[in-house]
Amino acid sequence: MTPDAFLADLDQLSEFGATAPAGAAVRGVDRQAATPEHAAARRWVADGLAGNGFGVEPDRIGNLFASIEWLPGAPALVLGSHLDSQPAAGRLDGAYGVLAAAHAATRLAAEVAAGELTPVRNLAVVDWFNEEGARFTPSLLGSSTYTGALALTDALAIEDLAGVSVADALRGIGCLGSGGGPVADRYLELHIEQGRELENAGVEIGVVTRNWAVAKFTVVVHGDQAHTGATALADRHDALVGAARLVLTLRELAAEAPPGQLLASVGRLRVFPNSPVVVPARVEFEADIRGPETEQVSRALREFDTAMADLTEVTAERARVKVRPPRELWPDGVALAEKAAAEVGARSLRLATRAGHDAIALSARVPTVLIFVPSRDGISHNVAEDTDPDHLLAGVEVLTATARRLLRG
Ligand code: GLV
Ligand code: MN
Ligand code: MN
Ligand code: MN
Repeated sequence: MTPDAFLADLDQLSEFGATAPAGAAVRGVDRQAATPEHAAARRWVADGLAGNGFGVEPDRIGNLFASIEWLPGAPALVLGSHLDSQPAAGRLDGAYGVLAAAHAATRLAAEVAAGELTPVRNLAVVDWFNEEGARFTPSLLGSSTYTGALALTDALAIEDLAGVSVADALRGIGCLGSGGGPVADRYLELHIEQGRELENAGVEIGVVTRNWAVAKFTVVVHGDQAHTGATALADRHDALVGAARLVLTLRELAAEAPPGQLLASVGRLRVFPNSPVVVPARVEFEADIRGPETEQVSRALREFDTAMADLTEVTAERARVKVRPPRELWPDGVALAEKAAAEVGARSLRLATRAGHDAIALSARVPTVLIFVPSRDGISHNVAEDTDPDHLLAGVEVLTATARRLLRG
């Protein structure tokens, strides 16, 4: 497959859920999990692979696999990422990795068919369900269920804000399968960096060695509903004022930590009843805290709990949360990806990922390799997200060369 074909396919994939008309200067996607746009994007990718001899089947949590079985019953090298997106997202986050996986797998299958490559394992491409955690919380839902970190019945029962369950949403797009999917004995993912390290270093390939620890949690602030005009300040219990204090607490915790040691944000707020002239009775919000080690995150969580307990006028609570720990990725895989980068003439750099990826879920169970390409100005989760086309193509070459090495042994 030619470089032009990859970039043309990427343009076509970016049409599913496009946020602006063709020709607009800035054009992202809104392709949240199990929406018609997501379903159409996965159908388009799967049809392409089916046309190249891959068998397409969703598993019981809606991960969509396209597999080729040369060795009956043997485990597979799985290549993939996610086609779902944040509400106003860039076109590359996840989708680039799935399309690159499809191109690499097609090329490698042709090499096997031509007798140029003798595989020791089978091959599959996957679109993991609901990586983003935008429609259904938590993120990494499909990959975490695949590895067993999340129980299937719990995952299927999770509801979006409209009360639609994962099971019903998957049924609605025809993607609720009954099997477990191919058994992965190696997992390989290509993704945009979403930060600035590679760009600052002037390097086109990142090889991920570990992830940051992260805690994601929901907070509920309880106040009393009242009239904004008629209720004296002394009589108010304003849930939004309490929530605002907690949002600032998180920012201050991050700002006061040593540089590069802590990130903390609130990404979504729900205000009840969310009406003008009404003092809010309740606010729910989703927060995340990230740091290089579990200890930094746990300490920040304890300080956040103190701030919750110190609130006046309102009360607040948060769900118990398990900190996702940092994990070293497969050292042999890091070396392999570096060799593959050198083989195709790309410069590479080792780095940690602060963003969450399906690869991190997989790495708990399966030897996993995660490769990055630079993000222009580090912009991501933003319609303006972009990567130099030469870097996009270099990533596909490194992915293919790494996958070839993994298929050989
Ligand atoms: C998801 O993208 C995350 O970084 O948690
Ligand atoms: Mn992603
Ligand atoms: Mn994302
Ligand atoms: Mn992510």
